[in-house]
Amino acid sequence: MGELMRRYWLPVMLSSELPAPDCPPVRVKVLSEELVAFRDSTGQVGLLAEHCAHRGASLYFGRNEECGLRCVYHGWKYDVHGNCVDMPNEPPESSFKERIHHTAYKTREAGTAIWVYMGPHDPPPPMPELEWTRVPAGHVYVNKRIQENSYLQNVEGELDSSHVSFLHWRFNRKVGALTDYASPAMLADRAPRFTVLNTDYGLLVGARRNVPGDDSQYFWRITQFMMPTFTMIPAPPGRYLDFTAAVPQDDENMIGLTVAWRPDRPLSAEDLAEIESWESVHTEVDKNFRPVRNRDNNYGLDRQLQKTKNYTGIRGIREQDIAVQESMGPIYDRRKEHLGSSDAAIISMRRRMLQAIKNLQEGREPYEVSHPELYRLRSAIAVLPREVPFDEGAKESLEATV
Ligand code: FES
Ligand SMILES: [Fe+2]
Repeated sequence: MGELMRRYWLPVMLSSELPAPDCPPVRVKVLSEELVAFRDSTGQVGLLAEHCAHRGASLYFGRNEECGLRCVYHGWKYDVHGNCVDMPNEPPESSFKERIHHTAYKTREAGTAIWVYMGPHDPPPPMPELEWTRVPAGHVYVNKRIQENSYLQNVEGELDSSHVSFLHWRFNRKVGALTDYASPAMLADRAPRFTVLNTDYGLLVGARRNVPGDDSQYFWRITQFMMPTFTMIPAPPGRYLDFTAAVPQDDENMIGLTVAWRPDRPLSAEDLAEIESWESVHTEVDKNFRPVRNRDNNYGLDRQLQKTKNYTGIRGIREQDIAVQESMGPIYDRRKEHLGSSDAAIISMRRRMLQAIKNLQEGREPYEVSHPELYRLRSAIAVLPREVPFDEGAKESLEATV
């Protein structure tokens, strides 16, 4: 899986973690590699192996100056490409530094996030044309968190339209519009039927619910799965949109980047207030991006709240998700599962992943990597006549316009 993931551009940090040229470097762990990110004097982002090529001191302690990161042990200096551009502890006539090539990965900035390509191809593939990476900065909000579980447990949760009727359940909810989160269909039908379609980029998942008192229509919650670990849960029409990337730090920990964006206009103060409220899929984190409500405080679990207000007794939507995903353990032993019909999307996603690994082992590169336009997608909530297939009925709202 690690080999496969190296075929893709991965978003790993916020641009704001490196706010200015020559700012302090930042430690980043991705795909089990310890790296140091820095922004050089020209504003370019470098992502270098953490341990200096000389004798391994951490470049985190480095001096970020004059277009390079300088190790504080003996002064070796690297540019964003991993060239050793200065070796002041060797005689000036030495050509030793020309023979040093430090591990450095290609980076890009898009959607106020920093992306890395850790794969074998040079030049790297094009960036996936995700809508939120193509809107102006004021249209997009990115929330980063570290989760103490395998990336897969997060991908599974995002694709799992069934848990919304339990984990995120709030008691005595006022019935909303038909396409709202508090849709009468969501409130009445807690056993959605799944239709999962294979696509060139991943999966299109339709979860269908009955509309109470209406035999002519279905309520569809449509979710996107994009290789390798990107998902979009649907938003009610007209609201800002949602995206999540689950990027492995290692086998047992992940970086979660959850994004809200508006294609049509900047996020308003109202949007941001909603995004930052506990009802959103974004979570409050400390300076190391660990959620403030975490395993150590049982995610703020309140048994009184659980009796009176909601299903879990945990307040935030994202905290509810993290609580169950981490509670499975760092990597759940899937041999112990009992998968039902409501797990159809999860089963299909695992098959898709396993097939992609097999293809790569047989020398076939993932198709979608060289077709970035496939990522111009949205997810949607739709209410459609019963006889209309969801992918046809919702076709327009599943396409990005930016
Ligand atoms: S260990 Fe970095 S310069 Fe010596
Ligand atoms: Fe959830």
